[in-house]
Amino acid sequence: MKNNEQNNFHKPVLLQEVINYLQIQSDKWYVDCTLGSGGHSEAILKLGGKVLAIDQDQEAIDFAKERLAKNCPKGTFKIVRANFASLKKIIEENQLEVQGVLFDLGVSTYQLTGNGRGFSFQVEESLDMRMDPENQTVTAADLVNGLYENELEKLITEYGQDRLAKSIARAIVLERKIQAIRTTTELREIIENIYRRKYSSKSFRNPATKTFQALRIAVNDELNNFKKALKVSLKILSPKGRIAVISFHELEDRIVKHQFLAWQENELGQIIAKKPIVPELKEIINNPNSRSSKLRIFEKN
Ligand SMILES: C[S@@+](CC[C@H](N)C(=O)[O-])C[C@H]1O[C@@H](n2cnc3c(N)ncnc32)[C@H](O)[C@@H]1O
Repeated sequence: MKNNEQNNFHKPVLLQEVINYLQIQSDKWYVDCTLGSGGHSEAILKLGGKVLAIDQDQEAIDFAKERLAKNCPKGTFKIVRANFASLKKIIEENQLEVQGVLFDLGVSTYQLTGNGRGFSFQVEESLDMRMDPENQTVTAADLVNGLYENELEKLITEYGQDRLAKSIARAIVLERKIQAIRTTTELREIIENIYRRKYSSKSFRNPATKTFQALRIAVNDELNNFKKALKVSLKILSPKGRIAVISFHELEDRIVKHQFLAWQENELGQIIAKKPIVPELKEIINNPNSRSSKLRIFEKN
């Protein structure tokens, strides 16, 4: 099913908060590093801002391009297909003065709900997880079937923070001796069995979440790419420009928190709002995917 044919396209998270904190000004440029379905970009454009939007996923770009072309003034946005790790080069090539930068990390609802790339354990698909299949070669199945047991354990511990990482890694290795693990369902069942065996009396909601998160982070080198792009984002920003980051788990949020604190200590700007901004209950009810989101804002001197 094509992105623009299905109803499940991504609802932008913390939209009003992002718009308010970025203080959108007419005719100033904003860089949306994670275009996705284009919800945040569209809101910025509708307030008169200009947008340079980046995504590494061609299907996301195809959908968002059509959406923005239909709903926003011509000539007010540019879309670049790239990894945001190359943010510096992208801005140099486009020679922009940037008033705001947005990162809305992770995957979109579209990517999660069945685009054939195996991001979700709730949909039976092959274990791929590459956001940019044309330029990435290593899939989640390659990691699951190819890493040594201790490497798998480390990956699930560090990127998934799952206390049962050791048992999960062991079970994966035993299973793949019989038959390679190729689908989301096969992997999910291995993990569910481990949880059932360890905690027979308790029921766990989606025990595979953490391992799937870990594999996705590893396949896409998410944390390193983000660290790199976040560092660059301050450099490309005009004075008094702002950076907004929406993160969805502790590993991402920790990077943002530490980077913002380091900048503030070096007197490069200020953290705006001491505590991360989280969605109101109304938004969580309307869009459960927003429940773990946290927004942090930094303003350059
Ligand atoms: C949560 S979605 C963004 C949703 C968007 N704000 C909206 O309102 O529809 C994250 C998007 O960022 C993209 N993405 C994640 N990591 C990326 C990276 N390193 N470089 C470029 N795009 C990336 C994903 O492909 C996905 O489309």
